[in-house]
Amino acid sequence: MSSLAQKRILLGISGGIAAYKSADLVRRLKERDADVRVVMTAGAREFVQPLTYQALSGNPVHTDLLDPAAEAAMGHIELAKWAELILIAPASAQVLAKLACGMADDLLTTLCLASEAPLAVAPAMNQAMWRNAATAANAKTLVERGVLFWGPAAGSQACGDVGPGRMLEPDALVAEVESLFRPQRSLAGKKVTITAGPTREALDPVRYLSNHSSGKMGFALATAAQRAGAEVTLIAGPVQLATPPGVKRIDVTGALDMRDAAERAADLCDIFIGAAAVADFRPAEVSAQKIKKKDDSERDSLALVKNPDIVAGIAGRSQRRPFTVGFAAETEKVVEHAQAKLARKKLDLIIANDVTAADSGFNSDRNTVTVIDANGSTSLPPALKTELAEQLINLIAERALTQ
Ligand code: C5P
Repeated sequence: MSSLAQKRILLGISGGIAAYKSADLVRRLKERDADVRVVMTAGAREFVQPLTYQALSGNPVHTDLLDPAAEAAMGHIELAKWAELILIAPASAQVLAKLACGMADDLLTTLCLASEAPLAVAPAMNQAMWRNAATAANAKTLVERGVLFWGPAAGSQACGDVGPGRMLEPDALVAEVESLFRPQRSLAGKKVTITAGPTREALDPVRYLSNHSSGKMGFALATAAQRAGAEVTLIAGPVQLATPPGVKRIDVTGALDMRDAAERAADLCDIFIGAAAVADFRPAEVSAQKIKKKDDSERDSLALVKNPDIVAGIAGRSQRRPFTVGFAAETEKVVEHAQAKLARKKLDLIIANDVTAADSGFNSDRNTVTVIDANGSTSLPPALKTELAEQLINLIAERALTQ
């Protein structure tokens, strides 16, 4: 039986010449026994007749938000709940902009807002439109909210340009859909705790010490672990990221709160991953009132105390010790420093990254890492944090479960 049998896929088609390829996409999804319903925007209907998709999907095509006949059969909220995946292919620059703003002025964008299903987009547009700063900002916002970007590919375009912006071929899109639905159960029945993001150490009611961690790597790991079948607890410092579906999130602010939440969760978990950038120090005293500037002094000093090392505390346990993984963000001698950290913190495995590498580390969507344990090191090729997270979770699952 195909991994897509009976899977309920809502295919959104927006305006673009690539809409003709989506007819083939519907056919290929149907060949794999998926249940496909098509929603078209007004722009899409300028390119291809709804009847084409109706014939191929075997279901009526949905076009209008306020169509009494359609609402009587399957209302837009029912349709949003029905979907196990929403795939927009082609996704125009316009649709990406509307999604980024949370607009709901037609059926497709309304469905996306009303649905809790994963949302994937296959962008298709002129290369200059894809590269435009506005589109890039919209895509970044959507990636941060967990929207999956499948493509675009680069190559020759219908308008004669050459560059990025081609919709992925139907075969490649089907492969992405299959991989999303493929049961990845490497962590089935396992409990995983992940710390993510920075900590914020209060100085007084209005000021704090913190760092540039975005939390993206930890959140991507939480998503991947949940998809691999784990029950995931994500202990997050202050970050601007949406909670991955199916993940239990505990929000914390300072290192001491993070330590308490982590210790409690670690009592019950099989794998602990410390991906947070915990502040090394906190102010020795938190002033109850805003600290005043001393007008007559050019300098002032701040007394700091060391924060507890959360991941080392958990790795150093003699009882109820989970398989413990740490991160090492380094600027030089990356592997050497990470190996020393692995030993000093008594970790089972450490993931090292060079934060000075271009397009890697703190606020980037990409990362380049080396995985190190007692047996040696493995370097993974540079990749999106979301892709890397899947590889890392598979690798951690393999090592933790064969221990
Ligand atoms: O020592 P360093 O901060 O470089 O170590 C990084 C690793 O240690 C990360 O896994 C981080 O989450 C963890 N860590 C921690 N508590 C601290 C400092 C770091 O859990 N106070």
